Amino acid sequence: MAQYTIHHTQKLSGEVKIAASKNAVLPILAAALLTDEEVLILNAPRLSDVENMCRILLHCGAQVHWEENALRICARHIHSPERQETLRTMRASVLILGPLMARTGEAVLSMPGGCAIGQRPIDLHLKGLQKMGARIQYEGGAVRAEGHLAGGSIYLDFPSVGATENLLMAAVLARGVTRLENAAKEPEIVDLCQFLNACGARIVGAGTANITVEGVSRLHGTVYTPIPDRIEAGTLACACALTDGSVLLQSARSDHMRAVLFKLQEMGLIIQEDEKGLRIRGRARHPIEVRTLSYPGFPTDMQAPMMVAASQVNGLSVFLETIFENRYMHVVELNRMGAQIRVEGQLALIQGGVPLQGAHVSATDLRAAAALMLAGLCAQGETVLTDENDHLLRGYEALEAKLCQLGGTVVRTS
Ligand code: UD1
Repeated sequence: MAQYTIHHTQKLSGEVKIAASKNAVLPILAAALLTDEEVLILNAPRLSDVENMCRILLHCGAQVHWEENALRICARHIHSPERQETLRTMRASVLILGPLMARTGEAVLSMPGGCAIGQRPIDLHLKGLQKMGARIQYEGGAVRAEGHLAGGSIYLDFPSVGATENLLMAAVLARGVTRLENAAKEPEIVDLCQFLNACGARIVGAGTANITVEGVSRLHGTVYTPIPDRIEAGTLACACALTDGSVLLQSARSDHMRAVLFKLQEMGLIIQEDEKGLRIRGRARHPIEVRTLSYPGFPTDMQAPMMVAASQVNGLSVFLETIFENRYMHVVELNRMGAQIRVEGQLALIQGGVPLQGAHVSATDLRAAAALMLAGLCAQGETVLTDENDHLLRGYEALEAKLCQLGGTVVRTS
């Protein structure tokens, strides 16, 4: 269990390096199972989700080593994971399904549990694999998939990020051509495809709704550097907006963050891009309307940090969460700090401009944890954030240390 003590911070300023994207690295690690040659992932972030994915690869028979900040993976002989506990704790574990099917023609996986932010089924992953010829059976909480995959046309009922990734990974070694329609367009999908193409895959159309994959007989190894984390960058930009700060987010990519940057600009922030990254200056001053959508819409992962910024500007901000059904859990905790936020179904109405007061608050999920840490920075007095399940460590590489580097006062107390 981690606990953080946070004090009011006047102005964040300085430079901070943005880590590699968690959501890009996790599928790339799963994709390393597609080749029997060595893969080297440079600048891999030290996150518990990454460590868990490495553990899962080990249980599938791969060799995995950290070399400073790089991960070396060699998946010469692979099989379904011998131990399944880790799979149940991490939703992204389902991403090994496509690679295992593509390489070995079978996979037995514990179903990933539901999670706090919503049910998160995997029906789209399984339906797509069935379309490629997989036979799917359910066995006491596990799913068994078997069959040699062949290409075909797959329409995704919703542009699910995970389903698009799983099906892409299944398709790269499948016989013939696979066409994914209504595919997810997130930058992490493009990054996965760049990695796969660097290994010899033939994928075109990544970043659009229609992706075509021409199957190849084998992939080879490569050295790859994943994209920077747009959610970490956005979270730190919101921290700046709360403290009238001036920060340089080194290596952040504005082209991956358009929706978030537009909202920050609407709130009154000044944003400049140069060769070092993104410079963010100023304070959030105007209310906003936010509707979470698939990329290039506003990312659901930024909804909670952006809501904290909206809570500190005069006027009514309106948020609509359309991706996950239970992603307003931070609201109860923010209201305990004095915020005035009302949730009605998918809508959250934020009556901004009420100063926050330090309080004891609890993290319910990863992005809620980050949002509450930001709230602590602008609250009067001391905030104690209890993160019983270490959510923050799952997805942010030392967020508290980065905030301290910018002049914040955040101490990890346990
Ligand atoms: C990924 C990200 C997560 C982000 C989310 C949405 C990773 C490791 N995680 O999660 O941080 O919040 O995208 O941008 O990249 N759905 C179905 N059936 C399926 C699959 C999904 O109904 O088979 C639904 C989900 O319940 C959810 C919506 O589709 O309501 C979006 O899910 P999806 O895009 O699949 O998110 P993840 O890949 O799990």
